[in-house]
Amino acid sequence: MKQWQITDEWSFDGLKLVDTPRPEPGPGEVLLKMKAVSLNYRDFLMIGRGYGKMSGDLSLVPLSDGVGEVVALGDGVEGIALGSRRLPCFIRDWFDGDSGPVAFNSALGGPLDGTAREYMCTPVASSVPVPEHFSDVEAATLCCAAITAWNALAEMPKTAQNGGTVVTLGTGGVSLFALQLAKAQGARVIATSSSDEKLERLKTLGADDTINYRDVPDWGKAVLGLTDGRGADLVVEVGGADTIGQSMRATRADGTISLVGNVAGSIAEVNLPLVFMFRKRMIGISTGSVADFHAMMTYLDGKTNFHPALDGHIYDFDGLSDALQALPKGEHFGKIAVRVA
Ligand SMILES: NC(=O)c1ccc[n+]([C@@H]2O[C@H](COP(=O)([O-])OP(=O)(O)OC[C@H]3O[C@@H](n4cnc5c(N)ncnc54)[C@H](OP(=O)(O)O)[C@@H]3O)[C@@H](O)[C@H]2O)c1
Repeated sequence: MKQWQITDEWSFDGLKLVDTPRPEPGPGEVLLKMKAVSLNYRDFLMIGRGYGKMSGDLSLVPLSDGVGEVVALGDGVEGIALGSRRLPCFIRDWFDGDSGPVAFNSALGGPLDGTAREYMCTPVASSVPVPEHFSDVEAATLCCAAITAWNALAEMPKTAQNGGTVVTLGTGGVSLFALQLAKAQGARVIATSSSDEKLERLKTLGADDTINYRDVPDWGKAVLGLTDGRGADLVVEVGGADTIGQSMRATRADGTISLVGNVAGSIAEVNLPLVFMFRKRMIGISTGSVADFHAMMTYLDGKTNFHPALDGHIYDFDGLSDALQALPKGEHFGKIAVRVA
């Protein structure tokens, strides 16, 4: 079989498509014939060992996201149909509850080998079935970004669920899933982007209101304007240093900021009284457990109108390195996916 691996140096020169023996499933595992994989910015950073020692050691199979068809069962595996599709969960050993300090030691695509291969084994207990109505490339996107958005939205104050206002920032994978999942759950969504063209596309995904954050740097105030001065119930905060001040402003008293990412910087100076005087809540979100994946897949099962936003260009397996190098250009809209088989 073929697999992509960062072979002997942490760089795109070291990223190679190699021949390797097909693995055999061990006890409690299934063998997946991979159908499709998808990309996150993390995967691009990982090529350059961007997560330091959390990147793991060489050689490393990159990518955390993918879906495969079960083609063989290891000892002790029962109740799993050959031919059914399963998605390996992002953090293999985080099953439920608190993640604990070492959960990320079992993250796919660094430090553990990831999904960019024709066949891979996964413990049944660390994988979930995929709803029928998703195509392979759609199903392959339902991993890192989707579970993060799912858990970010779960922090919505109970009083605001069903009809609350959610703000999403930019058009990265987490934000698009947050927009789509929030709409599916009945929220009103205010979405931002630096591009008017992308704002139009956000509307086609269901955004109720949009703001160009380049044209309107004080977009937190604009959110107040769109909510009769009250503010949003939840902000899915992916920007970090450059956006947290506006997110704090945009959030209502007793509302929540789900802290997810730092595409616009990590070290922030913030006006803390804005948080404690108005009892705003900031909570860190870090992907999700296997139990969270089960909950999300159960929710999506039967939601036949729900389809992850995919970029128009689907890559072939041979083109995976090109797909990764397209990520920082930021020209895509929706998840970048790669068909494996
Ligand atoms: N905590 C977790 O578990 C977790 C999981 C996944 C990802 N993350 C993190 O979450 C962040 C987003 O991940 P992703 O995969 O969705 O990223 P991504 O696809 O790389 O997002 C890129 C987008 O971010 C938007 N952006 C950049 N600067 C912005 C700003 N100042 N204000 C608003 N939007 C801005 C841009 O949108 P426009 O082009 O529309 O302007 C850009 O297209 C990253 O920092 C990532 O590391 C965290």
